[in-house]
Amino acid sequence: MPSHKLIAGNWKMNGSLAENEALVRAIAAGMGEATCTVAVCAPALYLGQLQQLRAGSRLEAGAQDVSAHTQGAYTGEVSAKMLKEFGVRYAIVGHSERRQYHHESDALVADKAKAALASGITPIVCVGETLAEREAGKTEEVVKRQLAAVIHTNGHCISEVVVAYEPVWAIGTGKTATPEMAQQVHAVLRAQLKAATDHADRVHILYGGSMNAANAQALLAQPDIDGGLVGGASLKAADFLQIVAAAR
Ligand code: G3P
Repeated sequence: MPSHKLIAGNWKMNGSLAENEALVRAIAAGMGEATCTVAVCAPALYLGQLQQLRAGSRLEAGAQDVSAHTQGAYTGEVSAKMLKEFGVRYAIVGHSERRQYHHESDALVADKAKAALASGITPIVCVGETLAEREAGKTEEVVKRQLAAVIHTNGHCISEVVVAYEPVWAIGTGKTATPEMAQQVHAVLRAQLKAATDHADRVHILYGGSMNAANAQALLAQPDIDGGLVGGASLKAADFLQIVAAAR
């Protein structure tokens, strides 16, 4: 188990300059003596504002995607090196919404993780099954396949990534996986990491999918749940800070 938990908020395509200022100031002010690492992953356009707003606080910044390329003719993409210029520490890669809407393959996700690591950014690698895959008994097969691609491409550097298990059927639905269901998959991912690196216990495995102030404590009490990747509940400072407080 890592020495401390990580709570990362994923704002998705939400926010405005005014809303971001209020939210970030409230989170930074309310973090107090948080014993976990806290990050917010903003839309790329707002990463400059986020860098200014969090200056002097322990709040970390993350991006919601990163290019697999270092520079060049990739219209609309943002490189890890560019993110680094704005003090970004994390980059979500392979979120189910990008796998679905942008047809991101396991191999592309693995390459994005590699590009992030090459610039000193920690990728938060998302894996997770759809409801149909779970109902077909394919949960383990799916998440192991998704993680295997990242292990294959990144080798021993896999110990430097963060993994997020996000059952697709729990994202934005209010249907959170039970702590036992989540722990079962986290244990599978931990075992897969142990086969790939001697430092598997250092890897944060986050849970994402309708984590909120009411269920965070029970989820975070599970032995292989090292934090959360929080969507909707990260957009309200009070809710997000209650999750942070539960991550002792
Ligand atoms: O990346 C985190 C996100 O997918 C979870 O969203 O709204 O279910 O917490 P939400």
